[in-house]
Amino acid sequence: MHSRAFSKELQAKIDKYKALRNPIKLGDVHFESPLILAPMAGICTPPFRLLMEDLGAGGTVSELISAHGINHGNQRTRDMLKIDEREENIGIQLFGEDPKAMADACEVVQRENPKFVDINMGCPVRKVVTKGGGSALMKEIEALAPLFSQMKKALDVPLSIKIRTGWDAEGINADKIEEVARNEGVEWVAIHGRTRAQQYTGSANWDYIEEFAKGATLPIIGNGDLHQPHHVASRLQDTNCSALMIARGCLRNPFIFLESLCFDPANPESPFKGKDYFEVIERYFQYCLEAYDRERTILIQARKLIVWFAAGFPNAAKFRSLMFQSQTLDESMKIAQDYFQGLGERGKFINYDEVFMNGGHG
Ligand SMILES: Cc1cc2nc3c(=O)[nH]c(=O)nc-3n(C[C@H](O)[C@H](O)[C@H](O)COP(=O)(O)O)c2cc1C
Repeated sequence: MHSRAFSKELQAKIDKYKALRNPIKLGDVHFESPLILAPMAGICTPPFRLLMEDLGAGGTVSELISAHGINHGNQRTRDMLKIDEREENIGIQLFGEDPKAMADACEVVQRENPKFVDINMGCPVRKVVTKGGGSALMKEIEALAPLFSQMKKALDVPLSIKIRTGWDAEGINADKIEEVARNEGVEWVAIHGRTRAQQYTGSANWDYIEEFAKGATLPIIGNGDLHQPHHVASRLQDTNCSALMIARGCLRNPFIFLESLCFDPANPESPFKGKDYFEVIERYFQYCLEAYDRERTILIQARKLIVWFAAGFPNAAKFRSLMFQSQTLDESMKIAQDYFQGLGERGKFINYDEVFMNGGHG
């Protein structure tokens, strides 16, 4: 195994922020900080989760994984369950609708030693909801108690859920779901502050999230549109939530988990510079090499992340097109190295008004 060390200079910056983290417990699960990496399909693989833990995420969740795929022994699905032994506070997220199938899948998942298992109850994607999974679970409240209890019976580790505010504006029912979850021994509820009908449009309804968290008995993790360190920092200072989850924010700023811990409005510039990003990319690349055999898989995974990381740096558009023309890993890394190291001490200015990744599985 390679070491996880960055250069002394970058590690010192990271450590300075990491020292500001306050560990928390949600139910029985320990997190290094209340800022947790949210599940993202196609992104929250072991290399990315490891990287985000290195960069201060208090815990992580896998991408959504099909219970039916697991039970059918589908190799690609089974591969998605893998957890790197260096991962610390990792949960596996399952999607599905049938209590028995979900409970059977839990038994397989458990062999990988996750710290918790999470149910995807927020995915708005048609293919998932037409089968009754993802956010469709929020419509069938009476079906939830058997689902939760059968999964709990199969699990030795805690069970959590990730929901939306409701199916649509008329069907806001997170509070009712929290009640069922609490009665069935679910450990916490993560909530993305949009309805299923909203998909990714409009803004996350933080007024609702805060009211919901205030009235809830279970710990609540708030999520949605926390894309800038100063938003995360102010929400963290003044929230009824026990923790916050960040998804898209870390794709353009992988240091968001650290920077949000002590954002200084008088000095808003990020301490992390262009050349730091290259070290992060090298580390990610290394984790990918350890995790995957196929160069093509690594190229596809690494290239999209590298391009997101460039957002807000000078000449990012030109860099992006060069990256997408590259055919090999060596070539991609060379282009990334020239670009990010060439940025040296330059900082980035992300245009947060631009639409970014308006779709996902939760
Ligand atoms: C590309 C992408 C994939 C996602 N995949 C999942 C998923 O597998 N499971 C899940 O519960 N949510 C998933 N989500 C939803 C996020 O976890 C999060 O709830 C949502 O993006 C809002 O948070 P954000 O504004 O911090 O991005 C995904 C989101 C995106 C953008």
